Amino acid sequence: MIRAILKYPEPVLSKKTETVTDFGAETRSLVDDMFESMYAAQGIGLAAPQIGVPKRVTVIDLSFQKTPEEKITLINPEIVHREGKQLEEEGCLSFPDIRAKVQRAAMVKVRAQNVEGEWFEMEGTELLSRAFQHEIDHLEGVLFIDRISKLKRDLLLHKIRKLIKAGEW
Ligand code: NI
Repeated sequence: MIRAILKYPEPVLSKKTETVTDFGAETRSLVDDMFESMYAAQGIGLAAPQIGVPKRVTVIDLSFQKTPEEKITLINPEIVHREGKQLEEEGCLSFPDIRAKVQRAAMVKVRAQNVEGEWFEMEGTELLSRAFQHEIDHLEGVLFIDRISKLKRDLLLHKIRKLIKAGEW
């Protein structure tokens, strides 16, 4: 089922999420809904709080449905290793049409559970590393605008407030 993607400043987006302990039908259908909602919104990554569910679940597909093997589900993920730096533009489905350069680690290794509850580790570089860090931040209630300078953040927040006032957000 396609679910509405919540936009900033929806409070659930800034809250820490809960660990998933149930690996049954409910979690499976949450993951299915997240992929469906992400594709419908033309995104490459989505975290559960973005559809209003405060749980440690995120989905990523950099191939955008082209390569099934690139569908990644991370449940209860943690970054266990990070290396280097990269500075690239980043966006977020909860901030339509807003982009900013964000510094991230060049490579990260994550440890997570799949939809069956099995633990696995996975490394990512470049865009995948960025996606891991962006999505796992969401699970901590941290948004990409929290990772830029105060000056740039204030400018973006000003722009968003104007859009909200104009009914265009
Ligand atoms: Ni995001």
